[in-house]
Amino acid sequence: MGKVISIANQKGGVGKTTTSINLAASLAALEHPTLLIDIDPQSNSTSGFGIESQSVDKSVYEVLIDDVSLEDAILKTELPYLDVVPSHINLVGAEIEMIERASREQILKKAIATARNQYDFIIIDCPPSLGLLTINSLTASDSVLIPVQCEYFALEGLGQLLNTIKIVRQHLNTELEIEGVALTMYDTRTRLSNQVAEEVQRYFGDKVFDAVITRNVRLAEAPSFGKPVILYDSISMGSKNYLALARELIMRNRELYKNSSVFAQKS
Ligand SMILES: Nc1ncnc2c1ncn2[C@@H]1O[C@H](COP(=O)(O)OP(=O)(O)O)[C@@H](O)[C@H]1O
Ligand SMILES: [Mg+2]
Repeated sequence: MGKVISIANQKGGVGKTTTSINLAASLAALEHPTLLIDIDPQSNSTSGFGIESQSVDKSVYEVLIDDVSLEDAILKTELPYLDVVPSHINLVGAEIEMIERASREQILKKAIATARNQYDFIIIDCPPSLGLLTINSLTASDSVLIPVQCEYFALEGLGQLLNTIKIVRQHLNTELEIEGVALTMYDTRTRLSNQVAEEVQRYFGDKVFDAVITRNVRLAEAPSFGKPVILYDSISMGSKNYLALARELIMRNRELYKNSSVFAQKS
């Protein structure tokens, strides 16, 4: 059964979408069947694959609100092992539309249930808030990967996220774990990046991934070409960084899954 990982941090601009797109693409490039679900109304993960969210027939909105099956919203990508469930701007209203529903925090979890068998990893790109969409994602997930931008006030607001994770664990998903913290937009030329990295390590210890994502202009350019960086510029630093993160994630989980046939088959 595939592992479901939320990419979450309620701060905007910390690298959630860049990490979702490029981690998912790297896992797929390493031949792990992967599904990327975009639940941010801004639909940046969707457009990052060259998918025009306005013209998609069925998006995650229909899955959450109209009981459309997740399978019906799955789109193929250029990468053979990667599929995407697109978002749509209509999702802005979804949190309010969901309020009336019974078990409104569990809608995504139920929608994902059957698809889980077809993938090794399901990556969910969360919106920059801790509202019902993010709660749905955390409830549906085995773990949460937190991107932290190497900037001033990097740790600010993380207390709120950790508190939300705690509440979800208590009431909705006792199994939810912290997969790890990924340092993003690391600038090798500045002392600030180093200081932030040290501070994050003091706080999160070995939860911090060794693979650090440096600042790389190719990562920022790739979405406007509708491609993950690995297809836009495979030898760029951004491409190497996200492949390293994917490898580390796979290694960390190989221990966990060593008895599972899905992971045993692959070296
Ligand atoms: N490692 C990086 N190097 C350069 N630019 C980056 C990097 N990571 C993200 N960006 C850019 O920073 C901005 C915010 O990143 P994004 O992934 O959209 O954050 P979020 O989804 O958390 O709002 C985007 O313009 C993105 O292209
Ligand atoms: Mg985003």
